[in-house]
Amino acid sequence: MNALTAVKPNAGDSARNYTGFTVAPSAQSPRLLELTFSSDTTQQFLQQVAQWPVQALEYKSFLRFKVSKILDDLCGNQLQPLLIKTLLERGEGALLIGAEGVDNVAQADDMVKLATAVAHLIGRSNYDAMSGQYYARFVVKNVDSSDSYLRQPHRVLELHNDGTFVEEVTDYVLMMKIDEQNMEGGNSLLLHLDDWEHLEEYFSHPLARRAMRWAAPPSKNVSHDVFHPVFDVDPLGRPVMRYIDQFVQPKDFEEGTWLSDLSDALETSKNILSVPVPVGKFLLINNLFWLHGRDRFTAHPDLRRELMRQRGYFAYATHGYQTHQ
Ligand SMILES: [Fe+2]
Repeated sequence: MNALTAVKPNAGDSARNYTGFTVAPSAQSPRLLELTFSSDTTQQFLQQVAQWPVQALEYKSFLRFKVSKILDDLCGNQLQPLLIKTLLERGEGALLIGAEGVDNVAQADDMVKLATAVAHLIGRSNYDAMSGQYYARFVVKNVDSSDSYLRQPHRVLELHNDGTFVEEVTDYVLMMKIDEQNMEGGNSLLLHLDDWEHLEEYFSHPLARRAMRWAAPPSKNVSHDVFHPVFDVDPLGRPVMRYIDQFVQPKDFEEGTWLSDLSDALETSKNILSVPVPVGKFLLINNLFWLHGRDRFTAHPDLRRELMRQRGYFAYATHGYQTHQ
């Protein structure tokens, strides 16, 4: 099969029940699955991890794996293999995850614990230089004075991959909605590489594999540049991408005009998914073959949105899945 042929999963699957959670295709795409922890699982999990405040998870890395095990045990050990399989499956690779009864900013610490448990079943979250922790919580308000588009509400945050300007491998991205007030618009935008109409054109271009320079603005707390190409391949030869429009630094006219065209080709794709993420839920995506962004939202003086993110690498050697790097 041609590596660039889009793989269409079976549509029309209904919800599947596992111990402690359900999984169903999303309304937006069969590639994006919705996973929901039952109220019983959620309550038991939060009770069992109540002894550790979030600060304990920050100070002792191994506790993040301990809370992961508690969650997986409550799910009859069906959660970890399901998460790994879904995130590595080229035809899927994305989940919208929620827990019944977790939907209010007052539960922010519980949200961090739940997301931490899920992330550490598939790998480990990297140090986040912006926050100095393994996760970052940040607020979007009506007025912003930051130095990137991350926190600027009234414009689109263009499609990109995370981890483009750091050395660490960034296999997954987790994006959680902790709070939302006076918000209209601002859906998450997702594009699966195999759904991009222009993939073959850009992937086969000579500049696709040329190392380019990537540099972040001061707020990212990353002081040195990194060099890598926009495209790479996974071990099966399928395209993967490591791209962000704001931080790539083309060295000349040829690179600059090619990148500008590539940006237009991404932003005008007809296959971008627009996904509302309710408070308490999070997207967990394979960062190598999914691009993400955020739609604009409407100005409001009391607009407030709080988000939490984790980025990290896959580690699943004990489960017998084929490694992809
Ligand atoms: Fe991002």
